[in-house]
Amino acid sequence: MSDASHRTPTAKGLEFLGAVAGGLVHEIRNPLSTMNVTLQLLQEDWPEGAEDARGQRSSRRLTSLLGEVKRLEEILDDFLRYAGIRRLNLSRVDLNRVLEEVTGFVLPECTRAGVDLAFYPDRSLPIMRVDERLVKQAVLNLILNALQAMEGKEGDGRGEAQLIVRTRLEGEGARIDVIDTGPGIPEGIREKVWEVYYSRKKTGSGLGLPTARRIAEEHGGGLTFETEVDKGTDFILRLPLTGPPDEPA
Ligand SMILES: Nc1ncnc2c1ncn2[C@@H]1O[C@H](COP(=O)(O)OP(=O)(O)O)[C@@H](O)[C@H]1O
Ligand SMILES: [Mg+2]
Repeated sequence: MSDASHRTPTAKGLEFLGAVAGGLVHEIRNPLSTMNVTLQLLQEDWPEGAEDARGQRSSRRLTSLLGEVKRLEEILDDFLRYAGIRRLNLSRVDLNRVLEEVTGFVLPECTRAGVDLAFYPDRSLPIMRVDERLVKQAVLNLILNALQAMEGKEGDGRGEAQLIVRTRLEGEGARIDVIDTGPGIPEGIREKVWEVYYSRKKTGSGLGLPTARRIAEEHGGGLTFETEVDKGTDFILRLPLTGPPDEPA
């Protein structure tokens, strides 16, 4: 995927790529493992070394099918590794610099939407150990949600649309806030928003938040939000400074 980096992807494109890697592969794996188990059960009904020709044929075909299912599972595993979701590609990263890039990237879109974008970095943040590409992806998902939540807010007389991205040193970790002055998340759907494929948008993938949360958790961090209806939402992404706890430093 690094070969394609000279082509400037759109924010939507990046979100889509991450969503495909995280969500689609996961969705394909479940029915595949059901097929795997079912084929193994069928194999018990058609054991190898059957007497009759029909039994031998069926056994051979089942073995071949099982091999193909296994192969598909391997391809998906490889893709997940390739996409960097499963194995983190950790390096020493200046989180503020990364967020500077992400906010710079979405600035034209914010301007176009009449959204006031501000970035407040905590300069005391040390260099961290994270997967830069994935952290970018997670924050971008949150920023796009904030932006989309405020779309059309301009004309409604309720005041300015503001998007604030902020970093802070918090204990042994970094805390990133993505704050919007959008409509907030109504009480009834506050759990649902984490569900894969849950979306209230006409063309939403429903993968932005689950993907961002998984990326945070794979770093040993987490993603939560605070929200107030008609006031706005604050998504809080936490990352440990030294990478996932189970990884050697
Ligand atoms: N900042 C936000 N303000 C209000 N609602 C939000 C915000 N972020 C996410 N949501 C809600 O959570 C849902 C799921 O978000 P997400 O997983 O990113 O999928 P998508 O953006 O494709 O709908 C959104 O459809 C929206 O209803
Ligand atoms: Mg989204």
